[in-house]
Amino acid sequence: MMHFHVLTLFPEMVSQGLSESILGRAAKKGCIELETVNIRDYTENKHKKVDDYPYGGGAGMLMQAQPVYDACEAVKERIAARRAREGQAAGAEQDSLCEKPESGISRSRVIFVTPQGSVFSQQMAQELAKEEDLIFLCGHYEGIDERVLEEVVTDHVSIGDYVLTGGELPAMVMIDAISRLVPGVLKNEESAETESFQDGLLEYPQYTRPEIWHGRPVPSVLLSGDHAKVEKWRLAQSQERTGQRRPELYEAYSRKERALSWLSRDRLSHTDMLESIKRGQADVIRAEEGGVLLYDRPSGAWMISASDEDMGERLLSEIPRGEKDLLFEVHQAFLRDSIARRFHRTLVNECYQAVYTRKLPPPREARFAIRPLLEQDADTVHAHYHAVHSRDYVLARIRAGEMFGIEENGALAAFAGTHDEGSMGMLEVLPPFRRRGMGEALEAFLIARQLEKGRVPFCQIFDGNEPSLRLQRKLGLKLASGRLYWIS
Ligand code: ADE
Repeated sequence: MMHFHVLTLFPEMVSQGLSESILGRAAKKGCIELETVNIRDYTENKHKKVDDYPYGGGAGMLMQAQPVYDACEAVKERIAARRAREGQAAGAEQDSLCEKPESGISRSRVIFVTPQGSVFSQQMAQELAKEEDLIFLCGHYEGIDERVLEEVVTDHVSIGDYVLTGGELPAMVMIDAISRLVPGVLKNEESAETESFQDGLLEYPQYTRPEIWHGRPVPSVLLSGDHAKVEKWRLAQSQERTGQRRPELYEAYSRKERALSWLSRDRLSHTDMLESIKRGQADVIRAEEGGVLLYDRPSGAWMISASDEDMGERLLSEIPRGEKDLLFEVHQAFLRDSIARRFHRTLVNECYQAVYTRKLPPPREARFAIRPLLEQDADTVHAHYHAVHSRDYVLARIRAGEMFGIEENGALAAFAGTHDEGSMGMLEVLPPFRRRGMGEALEAFLIARQLEKGRVPFCQIFDGNEPSLRLQRKLGLKLASGRLYWIS
């Protein structure tokens, strides 16, 4: 269920615009919910005024900070109350180990719809569709007092390089694009997957009856009944069309294909990079005969593999210098050394990569009840997980629903999760509970979860962590021949 909240001076425009057709049906089915909030209802001005002249002069009026702020706070409070209610309901239904989740008041993203934002895309729609609540703030007049934007807005988003009279239409455009990615909104779940942009290509041409129209026959392959041939033809049409109509999209698509092909020559060593691409979270910056450079968006890591030093240098030269929080994950020692010289990075973690290559998960260990971690578990995890990650990182992984644990007598005894770039990890069994199979049960659970999502489960083990290496062998993971280096 996705809850949209739109802060606007024209609530009917939004609610009426989104009440018909597929989105109207989705709202009735309970897949999405739309709340429109009239900012004017929150003004403290007795004439219900919400705008005023800009300091420093200039044309037009500006929306004032107070009504915008109060409207936004009211929405956040309603979200918190609903989540608390849902948390209680879920807690009552699930086992008694589950505590009530925290309100999560700070969690909702507030999207200011503005021509000054990053340009909305299918990729952004996919990312936003994972949220539970989205708050859209629609501006009018010449804009909104900057101070309230600084306090409440998490994302500035535009729908394109042109200026409209207000933010309502752009908000509706985004809500439409996001909604159709929410499970259950489209009737045929497939149709959100096989269309334009999803795999970086435009959709192929389609035909329906009659077989001949205005003397133009339907392409014969579509009447052949040969499914494989049809698929092949459609892919070729998609490629040709994208090349002609959107050359820049085609260039990105072919970089991705070249990268997959080169990285697949050593699948085990490159599972991290292959999965980043296949899960749709990579920007492939360069893909050459001899090396690949990609940027993994969730982790912000530059991932590189190169067959020789020359290629390594060429790939590294693509990375912007001067940014302070650069993070690298590289597959060769010469890249590690070159990064130390170029970017003055010294903190290196050397890892093995292990990959679960089977299709079926390891046998499920029924002895332990595994539950998702809650925000209040973050301190325990951070206190016991002796690795490079901050408490904020742990909290973010918990909020993403990617951390799990086993309890013993009401306290956390073991935990594990998946990292933002996709590897399984953060596995720790607290000392009193070791040697009972909790680690194995947790990792087997994570593997099964990854397989269900169609992913190849993998993990990275710090050099010298013998217990973890033994566990990986026991669970049937295969160790890649090369090492890899995380450099921060
Ligand atoms: N408000 C006015 N024009 C806009 C645009 N292009 N995108 C988002 N919000 C807007």
